[in-house]
Amino acid sequence: MASAQGGHVRPLATDRLLLRMWEPTDAEFVYDLYSRWEVQRFIGLVPRVMEGRSEADRLIEKCRGFHHPVQGFWAVERVKDSQLVGTILLKGIPASGEAPLQLSGDTEIGWHFHPDYWGKGYATEAASAVLAHGFSAGLDRVIAITSAANTASQSVCRRIGMKHQGVTKDYYNAMCELYRAEAASWLA
Ligand SMILES: CC(C)(COP(=O)(O)OP(=O)(O)OC[C@H]1O[C@@H](n2cnc3c(N)ncnc32)[C@H](O)[C@@H]1OP(=O)(O)O)[C@@H](O)C(=O)NCCC(=O)NCCS
Repeated sequence: MASAQGGHVRPLATDRLLLRMWEPTDAEFVYDLYSRWEVQRFIGLVPRVMEGRSEADRLIEKCRGFHHPVQGFWAVERVKDSQLVGTILLKGIPASGEAPLQLSGDTEIGWHFHPDYWGKGYATEAASAVLAHGFSAGLDRVIAITSAANTASQSVCRRIGMKHQGVTKDYYNAMCELYRAEAASWLA
């Protein structure tokens, strides 16, 4: 397993992007991202938008307080102008069951990007780097779940080499499309 370096997430670089730890000064971007219905509409059992800057401050605090050798919540910044464009998360996914939900033992990858930066391949580029990081750190498999209507997210899954596994209700007490990447075939 790789150890965390340079903060609470391991910084990752791609051709166009830097994936780094969230900073308190990113709160304006985080609020702008999560206060939009087009970003939030497929996220959570009961989607809701952020209603104040203080929620963004708390979320950043939570991300910064999360310490794990492999998993993390990355801020994705465009290298050419240091513009924040979105976030990639890699974390344990809760199994369906009685609330509070317990972790399933599987690791999920997810992506939330600002609509101003959709359609440029940034989510795919950043998610690919996080998947590579996860596998090189020793994960055997990574899953992603999306709502059936979230075709943009399903396309990201396919573009980073995840395979559709059908529909599942194993996680979050929600019926979702399940995608999976296996280290053995992804690294081959
Ligand atoms: C899911 C989400 C990240 C997808 O964003 P996206 O912009 O479609 O995905 P990418 O950043 O990978 O960009 C891919 C698109 O950029 C295009 N593109 C343009 N320039 C490109 C380049 N240089 N390299 C690669 N792709 C490029 C691709 O052709 C593709 O376009 P298409 O969708 O018309 O085929 C975005 O819709 C989102 O954040 N939604 C809200 C949050 C959400 O629902 N998250 C998922 C929860 S499960």
